[in-house]
Amino acid sequence: MSFYQPVGNEVELFTAAAENGLPVLIKGPTGCGKTRFVRHMAERLDRPVYTVACHDDLTASDLVGRHLIGPDGTYWQDGPLTRAVREGGICYLDEVVEARKDTTVVLHPLADDRRELPIERTGELLQAAPGFMLVVSYNPGYQSLLKGMKPSTRQRFVSMSFDYPEPDVELGIVQQEAGCDEDLAKQLVGLAASLRNLKDHDLEEAASTRLLIHTAHLIRSGMPPVAACRAAMIEPLSDDVVTVNALMEVVYAVFGQSQD
Ligand SMILES: Nc1ncnc2c1ncn2[C@@H]1O[C@H](COP(=O)(O)OP(=O)(O)OP(=O)(O)O)[C@@H](O)[C@H]1O
Ligand SMILES: [Mg+2]
Repeated sequence: MSFYQPVGNEVELFTAAAENGLPVLIKGPTGCGKTRFVRHMAERLDRPVYTVACHDDLTASDLVGRHLIGPDGTYWQDGPLTRAVREGGICYLDEVVEARKDTTVVLHPLADDRRELPIERTGELLQAAPGFMLVVSYNPGYQSLLKGMKPSTRQRFVSMSFDYPEPDVELGIVQQEAGCDEDLAKQLVGLAASLRNLKDHDLEEAASTRLLIHTAHLIRSGMPPVAACRAAMIEPLSDDVVTVNALMEVVYAVFGQSQD
């Protein structure tokens, strides 16, 4: 099973939602474990998961399905949402606020007690199989006012808010994911804590758990720590040279200046 280190009561909450056929919404910054958590829970519940990365061209047909033309004429092909509905799987819509508004038309009847999917093109009305579960996630930091979810959508979901874990928990995650020793994990987690505390640089996002793991991997492959931090932790945070140099000072404070 995929490794997932719980941070709060999210495993119990998701399990209870799944038992009651309730949809789940997960919000949180990039690289904090949202996708990993959904995969882990799908494995735990032994349900297939269909993941859709939403974007502003994503339409209801991309989710539900469409008629295609083959050698023997046209045929219907289920989209990922329809497959999950039929099989009793989890449909996971990542960055759901990006999706076009017409997708809410198909999501609403599925996300309330009707649990049904009307397929307009074929005239079918599908009743979701018992295991079906709708899970959506988004990053509140990227959200423009225009793209916010309507209250009628939000209120259909059991919602959980993710954030970067406390240092002692993050320490275990970095060790486990990167297979590094405790000393290195401690240094990286401490570095991340310092970077996250810098308020005077208006970074779009803070250093995520994902960046710590990438950095640890590079160091384990023999890269000098300062160079690894620059490439995997600092450069991904900003394109501004002045900001990068300022953040590198924090790296030097932890690993020394010599090897860069
Ligand atoms: N609680 C956790 N348990 C195990 N691994 C974790 C945890 N949190 C973060 N990770 C690690 O961090 C990496 C990034 O997490 P993940 O891909 O789930 O982020 P995300 O929240 O989906 O980010 P994004 O919004 O950018 O898609 C994972 O590959 C995993 O290695
Ligand atoms: Mg993700």
